[in-house]
Amino acid sequence: MPGKMSSCLSGSGLTKVFGLGRQKTVAVDHVDFDFHEGEIISIVGESGSGKTTLAKMLLGLINPTEGDVYFQGQKRDISSQKKKQEYWKNTQAIFQDPFSSYNIFNKIDAVLLDCISMRGGRKLPHAKKVELMAEACSFVNLKFEELTNKYPFELSGGQMQRLMIARIFLLKPKILLADEPTSMIDACSRATILDMLMQLRNEIGMTIVFITHDIGLAYYVSDSVWIMEHGKIVEHGSADAVILHPKEAYTRRLISDVPKIYEEWDLSTV
Ligand SMILES: Nc1ncnc2c1ncn2[C@@H]1O[C@H](COP(=O)(O)OP(=O)(O)O)[C@@H](O)[C@H]1O
Ligand SMILES: [Mg+2]
Repeated sequence: MPGKMSSCLSGSGLTKVFGLGRQKTVAVDHVDFDFHEGEIISIVGESGSGKTTLAKMLLGLINPTEGDVYFQGQKRDISSQKKKQEYWKNTQAIFQDPFSSYNIFNKIDAVLLDCISMRGGRKLPHAKKVELMAEACSFVNLKFEELTNKYPFELSGGQMQRLMIARIFLLKPKILLADEPTSMIDACSRATILDMLMQLRNEIGMTIVFITHDIGLAYYVSDSVWIMEHGKIVEHGSADAVILHPKEAYTRRLISDVPKIYEEWDLSTV
């Protein structure tokens, strides 16, 4: 986002190698990047290019083989469980499959109460907690009264996605990583979800990193775009620069794979 250019999350020589010897896969190969506060970023690449592996390293779910992650300009330290918890207050994710995001034995109230506790609200009066939960639900057009005492698996896919965003609304992280967040739901709720995320960015200055193979989505939502091929970042820049004036053949191929929905029907072949 123009104006605010302080570094929120960056990486230097970040690398992940899986396996050994002939089984070795270099999933992420010495990537350097810098994401700014309040910016909307897309990381785009075809399947297997290393996007999810990069996201997992940024979340601290897997350790890099080489390289470092910096959070707000400081080298990230998640060497203890306590430091990890602290980091996760600032760095949150929503995943492709909302069903994998919840402990199925926790009722929805517990999911949301957990978020309030993580933000230091454990000792708030119960009425205040209910107020916060109701506010978060209403932000995503869910009715809290209808959700109490339900389990996440009793919700529809679209409601689950919205519950994930209600969590983010309560947690107010500095960074949100969204790995193909909208692929499970229909186009209508997809637009709604994107809208809600944009509103959160505007209200709380959250940095959002979309991870996607959909370069059309990247163009539509992002300030900057980072293109990944075989574990490497091959091109990056403003969404306009990368998508309207791509330098790499790989980027041009990703763009040409997008169905040209606005192209007029060619009737000459009928
Ligand atoms: N846990 C793992 N063990 C071994 N190889 C893995 C593992 N996770 C990912 N890979 C490999 O790393 C490469 C990048 O995978 P991934 O990060 O999932 O790509 P993307 O999300 O872009 O589809 C692929 O070749 C994949 O098979
Ligand atoms: Mg992936």
